[in-house]
Amino acid sequence: MSRYALVTADAGFEHLVRLAVAGLPGLLQSFQADYLPTDVDDIFGQLVGDPLEVLILGPDLKPEEALTFASVVDAAHPHVSVVLTATPTPDLALAAMRAGIRDLVPPETSMEGLRAHIERARAAAETRRAAAPPADDAAAGGGRGRVIPVMSPKGGVGKTTIATNLAVGLAKLAPLSVVLVDLDLQFGDVASGLMLTPERSVLDAVSGPVDSLSLKTYLTPHDTQIYALCAPRNPADADRITTGSVSDLIDRLASEFRYVVIDTSPGLGEHVLATLEHATDVVWVCGMDIPSVRGLKSGLEILEELHMLPENRHVVVNMADRKAGITVQDIEATIGVPVDIILPRSRQLPLATNRGVPVLQDGIRDPVAKGLRRLVERFRPQWDERDHKQLHRRAVFQ
Ligand SMILES: Nc1ncnc2c1ncn2[C@@H]1O[C@H](COP(=O)(O)OP(=O)(O)OP(=O)(O)O)[C@@H](O)[C@H]1O
Ligand SMILES: [Mg+2]
Repeated sequence: MSRYALVTADAGFEHLVRLAVAGLPGLLQSFQADYLPTDVDDIFGQLVGDPLEVLILGPDLKPEEALTFASVVDAAHPHVSVVLTATPTPDLALAAMRAGIRDLVPPETSMEGLRAHIERARAAAETRRAAAPPADDAAAGGGRGRVIPVMSPKGGVGKTTIATNLAVGLAKLAPLSVVLVDLDLQFGDVASGLMLTPERSVLDAVSGPVDSLSLKTYLTPHDTQIYALCAPRNPADADRITTGSVSDLIDRLASEFRYVVIDTSPGLGEHVLATLEHATDVVWVCGMDIPSVRGLKSGLEILEELHMLPENRHVVVNMADRKAGITVQDIEATIGVPVDIILPRSRQLPLATNRGVPVLQDGIRDPVAKGLRRLVERFRPQWDERDHKQLHRRAVFQ
């Protein structure tokens, strides 16, 4: 029985952790060492009993070693919450977040305080495990994450808004397991939509190594427990990003994250097509105007001809308006496939864009938030197991 593991050579700290854990369910397994092994399995291989939930790293370990070790644990054992005992300076807090560390505990914390930190970390591990699909989930094949580009042939129809809210909504199902990639490489605005000031961008990610350890350092964490990989700040840098490198990057992210949501630039540009190689899904966004609907029809036809349509399709009509002069039925008749989600025109969305707080983060009660939640629901692991006829149940515009 082991739900907690501790690495420390500090006997006083070990005693404190033992007292703290004594009030919690599960047992503690302790490793008396003031260093970490290079291979995480040197620790994980020695654990016995129940699956590990919390790994506590003592105050005597070197922070750099602890960060590296935590990154590997985060990639290889994502359900485990790592708690590092160290003085939480702003720099260390940022590096810890990037390394997937759940919590930083100041070394002088009391036994009760320590227990509260460990209990929170345990609860987080439990939530993540509960949200995880079953081990044999074949949604994306071979344990890889779902890759979901949000696309539309026309601009300004709500791709960024929908991609951002989809990522935020999915993080409620799978915290810290969602990455939002801004592949609108020239004019991407994911960062401003989330009020982020990224230090690194897609350009850095395709220029440097993309092993599990390095990958996280390119990402910017957001309060909603998603990671964002933002577009380069300089639009000219888009030309320096090859389609091959985009494809490799998406492939790599899909092996590390449960959901890879991709915001794209309008149209079927080469970078957008590169994402389709690995896409398990595509969210098509269409406005309620003739050019947008015709654009979507052509987009679907072209990709069908190229045999590039991913397995799962989700058609969203955005900015729906009864006075638009066309109906959802008209749109379905033109594009030849059912509309899955209808998002009404709402004043909340431009407000949310301008504030940098997505509506699904804010918990706003608005029909548009309801529609966005229904879109998120389509990506729950159990969704695919439903009766096939229900996959594209007719959307209703109320
Ligand atoms: N349902 C809606 N009702 C009202 N406004 C909306 C709706 N959806 C999106 N918007 C607003 O429309 C604007 C454009 O949306 P967004 O940036 O998401 O579109 P886009 O498709 O990503 O555009 P681009 O092609 O330029 O990247 C934003 O200000 C957004 O808040
Ligand atoms: Mg956009």
